[in-house]
Amino acid sequence: MISEKLKKARDYEQANAKNINSDERPAYHISTYVGWMNDPNGFSYYKNKYHLFYQYHPYGLNWGPMHWGHVTSEDLIHWEYLPCAIAPDAEYDDFGCFSGSAVEMPDGKHLLMYTGVIEKELENGSKDVKQVQCIAFGDGTNYEKYENNPVLTAKDLPEGGSVIDFRDPKIWQEQDGSYACIVGNRVDDGSGALLIYRSDDCINWHFDTILDKCNNEYGRMWECPDYFELDGKKVILTSPQDMQKDGYEFHNGNGTLCLIGSYDENLKKFKRENIQSIDYGLDFYAPQTVLSPDGRRIMIAWMQNWDACHPPMTNPKWFGQMTVARELNIKNGRLIQNPVSEIESVRTNKVYYNNVISGQTKLDGICGRVIDMILNITPCKDKLYDNFAIKVASGHKFFTEISYNPITSILSIDRSNSGSCRDIVHERKCKVADKNGEIKLRMLLDRFSVEIFVNDGEQALSTTIYTPQTDNNIVFDVIGTANVEVEKYDLNM
Ligand code: FRU
Repeated sequence: MISEKLKKARDYEQANAKNINSDERPAYHISTYVGWMNDPNGFSYYKNKYHLFYQYHPYGLNWGPMHWGHVTSEDLIHWEYLPCAIAPDAEYDDFGCFSGSAVEMPDGKHLLMYTGVIEKELENGSKDVKQVQCIAFGDGTNYEKYENNPVLTAKDLPEGGSVIDFRDPKIWQEQDGSYACIVGNRVDDGSGALLIYRSDDCINWHFDTILDKCNNEYGRMWECPDYFELDGKKVILTSPQDMQKDGYEFHNGNGTLCLIGSYDENLKKFKRENIQSIDYGLDFYAPQTVLSPDGRRIMIAWMQNWDACHPPMTNPKWFGQMTVARELNIKNGRLIQNPVSEIESVRTNKVYYNNVISGQTKLDGICGRVIDMILNITPCKDKLYDNFAIKVASGHKFFTEISYNPITSILSIDRSNSGSCRDIVHERKCKVADKNGEIKLRMLLDRFSVEIFVNDGEQALSTTIYTPQTDNNIVFDVIGTANVEVEKYDLNM
């Protein structure tokens, strides 16, 4: 039996999605079926397919009562829309079905674990908010909420834990068959804490430990945590609210944090070894990972930033897209991320140059908005160039500029000429490894976004752009002289 709210959402998306032509969407990135999308949820491999759900408000281009949208894929690049999976139709989630995750159960059912939110306005104008964890079982298309939801409530919080900020469970199965989940919370000092709960059946959960705490150091509330093993290390990914700038590593506002370390079995605590941003661009939040059947740790994030959520003037039919699926590794204590190799299977029309460039240059065949391009920039005859810049998605008026200063090792992405009508941050800089003027940049363009992978994934920068698709030129601009090797492919979807 599906509820009225869910039926309404399914009817609405069916009726309205057809008004969005496929070329008005990204070609290989996930975008919302209709309306609005934020965080990826329930990223899992189930019945021979990747499933990804997302925070979804079908009825508008703004955040609203949260449903879960749903897409599936066999290769992480061709995605298919499935009907809306869950709607805020229960008494314990009627303000929204917030973020969560998914796992396959031993009986073959697909389990979703999510945050149910209740918000009531009180007579004095303040709000009574409660966040609880809930589950739903399904077959990969239809999901039934568990009759005794919620499965985790205020009574399961550690001392000082807040029921107002208690959300985004990420579930996994342990080697012994039992289950665990990590949940974001706020403790007595007002800042974030990551709670671990354990269960044998996904229904009866008990509090285990506070894995790590923010201590008011990296933002405040830590949202959407993920926790996994990677290349012999333990890794926590989380998305802090209210961050403050710290050099080129962290920017203000909603940011992302990757903690690399180990687990201390005696203290039941995470032991930090290294801390870094996950993505250094403008639009990246709330990543979630899945383990692929061949053992790769794969991450997808919401390619947007809460402070820059302004639907563009030019494309008001939908709002919200995800990053490309990225394979994660740890190398020299740092997170490495690269687009999944599946993307190489849709490469076509290779164009290759190995040129000396000085000043402004265009290269025949180097253009496009749905492309995969690798640049290897090296100094010429040992003389360092002063600056390397490339303008992509370039037309008469608009362009998005990526530039690299080999003296300071600062890489910047600037979308202030990319169609935005808002007085918000449009440029982000990051410090990359100093390799004496050598830098490798892989750029993925997909109609409304640019993602940059630096030096084989040592850093990534993501940004959305909403400019006309006819602005598809690429212009190189070198101050001084540099050797530029370019390998470019169209991506044929
Ligand atoms: C992060 C977030 C989550 C929450 C969801 C609500 O972007 O705030 O913490 O579950 O969005 O849509």
